[in-house]
Amino acid sequence: MRELKILAVVVFFSLLTYYLVEPYAHHEMHKKVDADGNEIKIESRGFVYDGAADVEEAERAGDKELVAKKKAFWSDVKKISKLKGNATAGEAGFGMCMGCHNGANMNMGGVIPPSLDHAGAIYEKDYLIALIKDPAMASNVDHKYADTMTHPMGSIKTMFTDDQSIADVVAYLMTKKAGEVTPKEAFSEACMRCHAMRYAKTTQLGDTPKFKHEKDALAHKIKVIEEQDMVKAYMGKLPPDLSMIIRARGAHFMETFIENPQTQLPGTSMPRVGLSHEGYEKVKEYLTEIGDPSKKHREEVGPWVILFFIIFTILAYLWKKEKWRGHH
Ligand code: HEC
Ligand code: HEC
Repeated sequence: MRELKILAVVVFFSLLTYYLVEPYAHHEMHKKVDADGNEIKIESRGFVYDGAADVEEAERAGDKELVAKKKAFWSDVKKISKLKGNATAGEAGFGMCMGCHNGANMNMGGVIPPSLDHAGAIYEKDYLIALIKDPAMASNVDHKYADTMTHPMGSIKTMFTDDQSIADVVAYLMTKKAGEVTPKEAFSEACMRCHAMRYAKTTQLGDTPKFKHEKDALAHKIKVIEEQDMVKAYMGKLPPDLSMIIRARGAHFMETFIENPQTQLPGTSMPRVGLSHEGYEKVKEYLTEIGDPSKKHREEVGPWVILFFIIFTILAYLWKKEKWRGHH
């Protein structure tokens, strides 16, 4: 029986380390504190965009005027969210979006407007409403703009001036631009205009084609550099390559950062992207597939290895008991 007890103790402490101690240590090492040394808890908000986090941020900064502005904005979003949108009427409005989101791969004010083919599946409904109302406020980068018109999508404000037309175009997106989306499509539409993925051979211009001639490869490289220079000018720095990011950052960091980049990097120029929970899961799947391709295999094999050890230990124990029968 002693061996089984030892095994039980080893298993117990391994599981304890894995499920409790490691995440706890990770949390302790990455504590965020405010100016007075009080810990700021960064918690996932379940990919709900109701402005609560933005209001808290403004309150922490002690900016009363900003608090009022954020509260008013998000309460308007809530009001529009309650309207019944008409998808058919929204189709005409969507035509205006296509003026920029047209797949021409042309840089507009800093980045290439992303494809909206799966916008209804990867973005959260209230975030889309907020984005059409005021892109800078929605993505929580209004601190960068004195006037929202200067945001590269800022002119949207002049196109959708009444609440019902916003509700209609969002209804159109949520019904006609949803459907199945692959992890790669989710990443391309939500992140690729800013982030390259070296390991997946994609840049801000999309998949890098295979070239027969060195000259064509070099010409493409120059186009990529020109595009990256424009993104750099827009963001203040070139957004990092994300090939390995899923291994470098824990799950909690990734989730809360994507929900609201300001929580983890205060003052960062990366906009909030507005992913829905489903959209985030798809993006995460793609980052894992590229950055840690053996993860799935490890997870599939893991339980079998543990089962093997348990059975092996029991057999060894039985065998030992058999061998030593009658010796004492
Ligand atoms: C004047 C050009 C323009 C128009 C018109 C426009 N967009 Fe955009 N849109 C952009 C640009 C540029 C970006 C990228 C902005 C960025 O990454 O900072 C963008 C980004 C987006 C994003 C991703 C934003 C995010 O935060 O993840 C969505 C979704 C979107 N637009 C939807 C729409 C919809 C819906 C419409 C029509 C109701 C529309 N856009 C109209 C230029 C435009
Ligand atoms: C409009 C451009 C833009 C878009 C779109 C964008 N990012 Fe970023 N991202 C940035 C910039 C700029 C930085 C650098 C931030 C800094 O250092 O302040 C960054 C940094 C990051 C980081 C690194 C944070 C760190 O630890 O330093 C991660 C992770 C990240 N982005 C993930 C994503 C994912 C996933 C998406 C798509 C869902 C995405 N980003 C969409 C601009 C963007």
